[in-house]
Amino acid sequence: MEKGSELYAGKAKSVYRTDDPERFILAFRDDTSAFDGGKVAQLDRKGRVNNLFNAFIMQKLEDAGIPTHFERVLAPNESLVRNLEMLPVECVVRNYAAGSLCRRLGVQEGQELLPPTFELFLKDDALHDPMINESLAETFGWAGADELREMKELTYAVNRVLKQLFQDAGMLLVDYKLEFGRAGGGLVLGDEFSPDGCRIWDAETRRKMDKDRFRQDLGDVIETYEEVGRRLGIDFESV
Ligand code: C5P
Repeated sequence: MEKGSELYAGKAKSVYRTDDPERFILAFRDDTSAFDGGKVAQLDRKGRVNNLFNAFIMQKLEDAGIPTHFERVLAPNESLVRNLEMLPVECVVRNYAAGSLCRRLGVQEGQELLPPTFELFLKDDALHDPMINESLAETFGWAGADELREMKELTYAVNRVLKQLFQDAGMLLVDYKLEFGRAGGGLVLGDEFSPDGCRIWDAETRRKMDKDRFRQDLGDVIETYEEVGRRLGIDFESV
C-alpha cells in the first residue's frame, strides 16, 4: 500500500491518500488538543497508543457485526481505513452524567443514565459544534431520516458491546462520541474510538482515565490511557 499525499490534517490525526482511491491511511499524531483548540500539547507515545487502542476497539465491534471503516494496522501510529462519505454530525452516547450534560442541565456528575442518552451535534468548528436534533439534521440535509434511524441503532449496538467490555475490565464507559459515513449503500462507523473521544472511569474509585486528565491537568495522561488499554488486554508493543 503506497502512502500518498496528505488529504486532511485534523487536530490529532491526519488522513493520507493511498494508491487505492477507496482506502486511506489514518495517521495518529502525538498532538492533543482540548477546548476547541484552546489548549494544545504534544504527548509522547500518544499516536501509537491511540492507534492500537482504536484498532482493538474497531476489531471488537467488527466481531460483533458492526460495520467499521477499519481494515488493518500498518505501522505503530498508522492504520488503513475505507474511504467513507462522512456525515457532518457527531453522535454522543452517555451512560453516566458528565461534561457538557452537567453544565447544560445542572445534573449531578456521575448519575447513571437509564436508558443511556443519545445526542447529535453538528461538526462545525466555527460554530463550536452546536447541539442539533434529528429534525434539524433532516431539514438541512446533514443526514436522511433512514440514516438517522440507522445511526441511532448502530450507536446503541456499539454501546451494548463497549459498555460490557469496559465493565468486564473494571471500568465504566461514561460517554463517547461516534461518527458515521456512507459506503456501499449503508452507514459505517468511521473516525476513531480512543480515550481522546470518550470518558472512562475506574469502576471502584471513579478515577478519570481519559482525556479529562489532559483537560483538567490531572497528569499521567498517556500512562493512564495505557493502563486502560492493558486492562482491556491491548499489547502496545505488538507493532
Ligand atoms: O463535552 P461533552 O460532555 O458533550 O462530550 C461528550 C463525550 O463526547 C466526551 O467523551 C467527549 O470526549 C466526546 N466528544 C468528542 N469530540 C467532540 C465532542 C465530544 O470526542 N467534538
